Amino acid sequence: MGTVTKIGIVGMGHVGAHVANSLVLQGVADELYMTEQCSGDEDHSAKLAAEVQDLGDSLAFCPHNVALYNCGEDYARLADCDIIINAAGKVRLASEDRDGELFYTTDTAKTFITPIADAGFDGVWITISNPCDVVATEIWKLSGMDPKRVIGTGTALDSSRLKYALSRATGYDQHSISAYMLGEHGNSMFAAWSAVNFGGKPLAQLREEQPDRFGFDEGEVEQEARHGGYVTYAGKQCTEFAVADAAVRLARAVISNEHYITACSTLMTGDYGEEGFFTSLPCVVGANGVEEVMHFDLSDSELREFQASCAHVKENLSRIGL
Ligand code: 2OP
Repeated sequence: MGTVTKIGIVGMGHVGAHVANSLVLQGVADELYMTEQCSGDEDHSAKLAAEVQDLGDSLAFCPHNVALYNCGEDYARLADCDIIINAAGKVRLASEDRDGELFYTTDTAKTFITPIADAGFDGVWITISNPCDVVATEIWKLSGMDPKRVIGTGTALDSSRLKYALSRATGYDQHSISAYMLGEHGNSMFAAWSAVNFGGKPLAQLREEQPDRFGFDEGEVEQEARHGGYVTYAGKQCTEFAVADAAVRLARAVISNEHYITACSTLMTGDYGEEGFFTSLPCVVGANGVEEVMHFDLSDSELREFQASCAHVKENLSRIGL
C-alpha cells in the first residue's frame, strides 16, 4: 500500500454514494475512483457526475482533501487502487428477499471483475452487493485472487443490527457488547447466542444473575437483526447508511492494518466442515484482507443453523452455475 490511499467504487447508487460520502467524511481515502454503468439501458452517467460534484462541494468541510475521479464505466482505471468496494445492484429486486438480486448482480459483476483483474488489480475487494456471499464467491472465482483479499460485508451489518437491538433491550452501550450474526447475509442468518457477552461477561451468566435486565426474548431480538434491512427497505425503498458504514469500517481495518475482529464473509476452507464458498464467520481483518477466521464452540443448534445457512448459499451458487 502506497502513501496515497486510493479507493475505487463500483456502482454509485444509494449505497455506493453513501460509501463515497462516508470515506470522504471519515478521511479514509486520498483518491477516490468512482464508476457506474454508463451505456445502453443502464446509462447512469448523469447520476454519477452529480454524485462526484456533490462530494466535491462537501470537501471544504471534510478532514482533508480528496482527489475525486469520475471514471465512467472504465473499470480498468481502478487497477491501482488499494481497495475496491463493490456496491453494484438493483435494490428494488430485493424488497422481500436479497436473493431477488441474484441474477442481476452476478451478471453485472461479470462486466467489471475480469477487466479489473486483467488490468492487474492486487488490492483488496470489499463487496456489498447481494446476495453478498454469492457475489463474494463469484469475485474470488472470476478474479483468481487470493481469497483472503476478497471480503464480503456479509453479517458485519447484521451483527451491528444485533448489537443495536441488544443495546435497546438492556440499556448497555453497543460498543461494550460482543455479538455476531453468522452464516449467509440473508434470511438464513442466525445469532450465535453462545458467544454473546457484555464487557466479557457471558450472556447466559447475566441472564441467571439479572433476569429482569437480561431476560429479553432472544427470538425477538434475533428477528430484529435478521429482518432489520427489510424494515428499513419498507420505509425508504433502500438501505444505505449502515451497510455503507460496514464497508467503510472494513476499509479502515485494511488501510490501517488493524487486525480488527468482525463478522464478515470469507472463503470457507473446512470451517465447521464447510468449504469452497463464502459466508460469514468472525474474522481478523488487516492489510492483506482476512488474516484469520475465528472459531467458537457453537452449540449443536447453532451448528445446524450454520449448516442450513451454508446449504442456502450453495444452492444459490448452483442456480448461477458456480
Ligand atoms: C441490508 O441488509 C439490503 O443487504 C442490505 O441492509
